[in-house]
Amino acid sequence: MNIFNAKTILLGITGSIAAYKGVELASRLAQAGALVDVILTPAAEKFVTPLTFQSVTGRKAYTDADLWGGEGHVAHIGLGRGGELLIIAPASANTIARLANGIAENLLCVTALAAHCPLIIAPAMDAGMFSHPATRKNVETLIERGALLIGPVEGHLASGLVGVGRMEDTPIIMGAVRWMLGREGKLAGRKVIVTAGGTQEAIDPVRTITNYSSGKQGFAVAQAAIDQGADVVLITTASLPEPFGCRVVRVASASDMLQAVQAEVKDADGLIMAAAVADFKPVQAASGKIKKDAGFASITLEPTVDILKEVSHQRDGLKRLKFVIGFAAESEDLLENARIKLNQKKLDMIVANDISAADAGFEADTNRVILIHKDGSAESMPLMTKVEVAEIIITRAANLIE
Ligand code: CTP
Repeated sequence: MNIFNAKTILLGITGSIAAYKGVELASRLAQAGALVDVILTPAAEKFVTPLTFQSVTGRKAYTDADLWGGEGHVAHIGLGRGGELLIIAPASANTIARLANGIAENLLCVTALAAHCPLIIAPAMDAGMFSHPATRKNVETLIERGALLIGPVEGHLASGLVGVGRMEDTPIIMGAVRWMLGREGKLAGRKVIVTAGGTQEAIDPVRTITNYSSGKQGFAVAQAAIDQGADVVLITTASLPEPFGCRVVRVASASDMLQAVQAEVKDADGLIMAAAVADFKPVQAASGKIKKDAGFASITLEPTVDILKEVSHQRDGLKRLKFVIGFAAESEDLLENARIKLNQKKLDMIVANDISAADAGFEADTNRVILIHKDGSAESMPLMTKVEVAEIIITRAANLIE
């Protein structure tokens, strides 16, 4: 299920001090399971060596010596055809100019011309060079041809100045690679809404009623859907690192979440409600901070709207909606309670979990779930990471679309 596994990724390294960050990227890609073929330009070799990359990827790293010798003159064709993705990080102004103009003076640029795979460029250069009209035009040309531009971002530059020219951080580039690799997945072209985290119901401007939900399972579901090519809208209260490529809608209360889901569900193909939505909220939040001396003995609560029930009432009009998946967090009678929720909320599948187990609760990185389907069948899963649980949920969701 690991999206990086056995994928052949061409990683171009060009002449920039950020080449050392390219080593980290190569290492992370290799650790994730990808087969990383690194190609260094002559300028890159002044900053880092092929041996550095060979040591972290476990594979030969290519230089211009391979263009003119070694395997003869076909190294670039083999590399270009074999690559499932070409990423140039760091991409210097010079290499960007060559790519934009089809100039093939070194192995990396010849390979880029020969390759048919998607291209990601992560520029790194002085701010003035990046904002120069020549570079802007070259970058635009590459984007028009379908390249994905990542960064550069603002930061300290080799010149000692601060400006927009620093190569984007490795985790963001990894997210972009992941997004690109998933584009042809089973959910390609499908809009999937995922909710995550616990809602917050205001008591006054400084206090809320909330719950222990971390949002980890929902964020993992969003990432798994992106890995399968979905256009994901993540509606959330949680502040976890955002998966690359999804649209995040930040909400606080159950009523915010209801509004956001209703606005997005009209043209959605799927909805996965992993959020722990409050069932009750204060009837009226105090407009000012409630002072200790004034005291308050009780908070009067009223029920919130059940978002899944609301969607189920509208389902006949939601022509594109192929699956609705809910979660059931239970501390007793897991199966029975989850089945009741599946039927009452008219779900296609419910993910039931026992929140009283230490290794499967809100904060844990693991989960033990039972998937219950509309036809009544149930699949009991062993203890898994939340990432693995997310992948299984998305596999089942994709089956519901076919
Ligand atoms: N849910 C919802 N709107 C609410 C409450 C819950 O859409 N106001 C969704 C949750 O996101 C979850 C499913 O309903 O996917 C079940 O949530 P859960 O809290 O387990 O059940 P409840 O229906 O709230 O019932 P109870 O709290 O009594 O177990």
